[in-house]
Amino acid sequence: MTSIPYLVLIMTCLAGLFWGASCEGAYSGNFLIENCNWRRRHFLNNLGAKVNVSIARFADHNLSRNLTCITNIYALEGYLRLKVSRFSLLGSSSCRTSSERLKIFHHGLQTNNYITWCGETYAEELYFKDTVVLEYNTGLHGEGDGFDIEVSRVGRPCGNVQTLAVTNKTRLLYSPLYPDPYPHRLDCYYRLLGPGKNLRIRSLSHDIEWDETCDYDVLQINQRKFCGSEIIDVLETAQSTDTSVTFSTDGSYAGAGYVLEYFNEQDLSVVCDGDTSLNPIDLQGGENSHFIELKIKQTGRR
Ligand SMILES: *[C@@H]1O[C@H](CO)[C@@H](O)[C@H](O)[C@H]1NC(C)=O
Ligand SMILES: *[C@@H]1O[C@H](CO)[C@@H](O)[C@H](O)[C@H]1NC(C)=O
Ligand SMILES: *[C@@H]1O[C@H](CO)[C@@H](O)[C@H](O)[C@H]1NC(C)=O
Ligand SMILES: *[C@@H]1O[C@H](CO)[C@@H](O)[C@H](O)[C@H]1NC(C)=O
Repeated sequence: MTSIPYLVLIMTCLAGLFWGASCEGAYSGNFLIENCNWRRRHFLNNLGAKVNVSIARFADHNLSRNLTCITNIYALEGYLRLKVSRFSLLGSSSCRTSSERLKIFHHGLQTNNYITWCGETYAEELYFKDTVVLEYNTGLHGEGDGFDIEVSRVGRPCGNVQTLAVTNKTRLLYSPLYPDPYPHRLDCYYRLLGPGKNLRIRSLSHDIEWDETCDYDVLQINQRKFCGSEIIDVLETAQSTDTSVTFSTDGSYAGAGYVLEYFNEQDLSVVCDGDTSLNPIDLQGGENSHFIELKIKQTGRR
């Protein structure tokens, strides 16, 4: 399919918004609504308007395999904020075609501009402009607990300080509109609060306007400034973790922005007494998101 029919659908629906006509019948394609209980579209016309998109806890539903549920959310000429309060799908964080998964599209299903989440790795907050499309698929191997996402219309991205909880599971932090260019004149401020030492923050993707002293657009983690496409890998080892992450942009060039991952790095010790073999260590969370460092300390011979 080309993107033209999709555009026509969108236009039909937008026209429907103005003339009060229904566009329910205007959708086509190989998706089912079945019992995700999602409406196909929501128009958030006013600032502060909200809608919840959820997949119930597994015990409460019974969806078929490879079932796709789609909802389109529109805020004409406005920003949409996604606040994710629960996200737990079955399987690992690396997505396969058989995984239970959630795709989040910027401009519509026919674009390549989307992010995909599997397992339990997600961002607490995301921003989109004008439209966001959520496409959930049950996968082939069963379902996890599900998710709760509140989508609200906001005036600008990053209105308030966001407090993000750091745990031993990987979480993500995206620049607003990622991977579309981030908006001008942003002032985003996050406080990462964790239970203890070893907060690790790493970039998975990083494209911010470059300047020798990062004077234009800048991502700052505590006192350290990052811009350009320099790889970020920060380990904060303070006893109590309260790390500030800010992202400020000016009125000129904008890059694709960043995706950061953050988690509490674990310190696991294994005792080899010369007699026993090592036991496997079970690391929670995304399988490709842990930094494993092996330190061997010789303490004596038997
Ligand atoms: C969305 O869910 C949250 C928490 O689950 C609830 O407080 C809020 O009222 C819901 N909003 C809407 C628009 O249903
Ligand atoms: C779930 O769906 C299957 C197949 O559609 C059906 O056989 C089964 O009874 C359903 N289970 C529940 C708890 O509804
Ligand atoms: C899932 O369904 C889609 C559309 O119905 C189909 O194209 C795809 O091959 C199916 N995937 C698997 C893994 O069966
Ligand atoms: C991760 O954190 C949870 C909750 O704080 C804890 O129960 C669990 O044991 C931790 N996992 C590891 C591998 O440290």
